Amino acid sequence: MFAAYAARINADDPLSGLELGERPEPEARPGWSVVTVKAASLNHHDLWSLRGVGLPAGKLPMILGCDAAGIDQDGNEVVLHSVIGQTGHGVGPDEPRSILTECYQGTFAERVAVPTWNLLPKPAGLSFEQAACLPTAWLTAYRMLFTNAGTKPGDTVLVQGAGGGVATALIVLGKAAGCACGRPAATRPSGPGHWSWARTRPSPPASGCRSGWTR
Ligand SMILES: NC(=O)c1ccc[n+]([C@@H]2O[C@H](COP(=O)([O-])OP(=O)(O)OC[C@H]3O[C@@H](n4cnc5c(N)ncnc54)[C@H](OP(=O)(O)O)[C@@H]3O)[C@@H](O)[C@H]2O)c1
Repeated sequence: MFAAYAARINADDPLSGLELGERPEPEARPGWSVVTVKAASLNHHDLWSLRGVGLPAGKLPMILGCDAAGIDQDGNEVVLHSVIGQTGHGVGPDEPRSILTECYQGTFAERVAVPTWNLLPKPAGLSFEQAACLPTAWLTAYRMLFTNAGTKPGDTVLVQGAGGGVATALIVLGKAAGCACGRPAATRPSGPGHWSWARTRPSPPASGCRSGWTR
């Protein structure tokens, strides 16, 4: 099957290690499902992988891509969660936690295999492309906001690096939960300066957040 994969690690020139071409089909494993990928999303993690962070040379070649949405082997529209090993589903109980592309082949391919437990129904209102952006970055943001920080409506949320992937999710989720989301401005290159605050909007865009900021 066709795939985009890390063939070599190069910390200084990561894209030189990226190759497009044929890779073996995912192997059937008990408790795992094969998903036909309809959309996959790019995460900064993929660039780190090409730099060798979290991906040792001994694991190459490795198909990149942590996130995807597609069709499972029973014809269901699904979005897949890429954390494997934390719960023991599909792997031994002692297997350490990893995300796709660290130990198991990723989603930038025609098909990908994950533990069946990692499949969730794709919300009907989301396209495959939208759903494929949700798992890693948006679950990270959800966990930061609501599980770890216990954020509640009316709270104020400070988001650093507000143009980034996780930060975008923090802003959209925080605002949807009724929080005031702000970022420190002018942290680069001139050091901490003033605050900018997000306008209250019911449906902020998932990209281009900076255009929506105001003092
Ligand atoms: N992506 C995930 O799924 C995920 C999951 C778990 C944890 N994380 C962690 O979350 C963090 C953000 O990841 P990400 O994927 O969202 O990265 P990203 O999309 O590359 O965003 C990083 C953001 O930080 C900004 N930034 C970088 N250096 C800065 C500095 N010195 N001062 C102010 N802003 C700075 C960048 O601004 P510019 O665009 O202007 O450079 C960019 O907006 C990382 O520590 C990552 O390890 C990410």
